[in-house]
Amino acid sequence: MTKAIRFSETGGPAVLRLAQADLGPPGPGEIRLRQTAIAVNFIDTYHRSGLYPVKLPSGLGLEAVGVVEAVGEGVSAFAVGDRAGYCTGPIGAYAEAANLPADRAVKIPDTISDDIAASILMKGMTSEYLLRRTYPVKAGETILFHAAAGGVGQIACQWAKALGATVIGTVGSDAKIALAKSFGCDHVIVSSREDIAARVMEITGGKGVPVSYDGVGKDSFEASIGSLAARGFLVSFGNASGPVPPVSPAVLSPKSLYLTRPGLFAYVGTTEELRASAAALFEVVLSGNVKVGAPAIYALADAAKAHEDLQARRTTGSIILKP
Ligand SMILES: NC(=O)c1ccc[n+]([C@@H]2O[C@H](COP(=O)([O-])OP(=O)(O)OC[C@H]3O[C@@H](n4cnc5c(N)ncnc54)[C@H](OP(=O)(O)O)[C@@H]3O)[C@@H](O)[C@H]2O)c1
Repeated sequence: MTKAIRFSETGGPAVLRLAQADLGPPGPGEIRLRQTAIAVNFIDTYHRSGLYPVKLPSGLGLEAVGVVEAVGEGVSAFAVGDRAGYCTGPIGAYAEAANLPADRAVKIPDTISDDIAASILMKGMTSEYLLRRTYPVKAGETILFHAAAGGVGQIACQWAKALGATVIGTVGSDAKIALAKSFGCDHVIVSSREDIAARVMEITGGKGVPVSYDGVGKDSFEASIGSLAARGFLVSFGNASGPVPPVSPAVLSPKSLYLTRPGLFAYVGTTEELRASAAALFEVVLSGNVKVGAPAIYALADAAKAHEDLQARRTTGSIILKP
């Protein structure tokens, strides 16, 4: 038995319950991880609310770090005692321990702590594919990144800066300006009181940006379109403010824009892609180009409170649950 967060109906944070869950030995090809740091990601709120359907009753969470305490038949890449982490499920990471396919786990470098590793796996691999593979950022470009003080924003803005970009970040309130600047933003736009597209045009001398990385979704879609230069890329990668309503391709035509709606799973679907993405992430963190602040820590039993704070825009950087 292991303590785990479970939910049997979708809804607000209150549907989350701490329960005892059965956890058998790892199956063939699996490892069992004794988890020391569990990540809270915005996608967990979509699973909980029903925006992204899951089979109920269900556990929650896709990412955690810990120590391998058992290996299943046929596993050779991991041994008992290895430090490892994962960020593509299986769903149910909000737990003291979890079984998962060994080929979805990565080893954690000795010099990266469990809390920092759990702060960066999903958010950092997402930053990696967005900046290097969805729209590869080139030195000298000016780019727009929404929610710059958030978990993905913390890593992506510093990484974009390291790639030689000038970074325009958006934040929801004045209180987050200094933090976004410390995360590498050259310009910070406060979305609650400024016209994002107008400010981007002002900053870029009327040209607009070649790419807008937009994890805010519904509330920022139009601002992203308005901020782009001709033939620019709208990379719509999340729904923090709600899903973008259906749009006609015609909205792209005045500036011949590109629109993509990428997801991490399609970019790290193979073990090779997963390990390559993790290696690039660890390299940029260990080089010091991306500095990761201490995460906000909550007890596993307080997962609902962590969700409330994340959705109320009260958090910055990453959030970790402690079993
Ligand atoms: N597609 C993928 O592969 C992928 C992978 C990982 C994450 N994501 C997406 O990336 C985004 C960031 O994820 P994260 O876990 O790092 O979260 P986060 O950025 O730490 O939190 C979301 C942020 O969005 C901003 N926001 C704007 N309007 C909001 C609203 N109405 N309600 C709540 N937040 C609002 C808030 O920042 P301000 O207050 O500063 O505006 C908030 O802090 C999410 O949309 C997530 O789904 C996508």
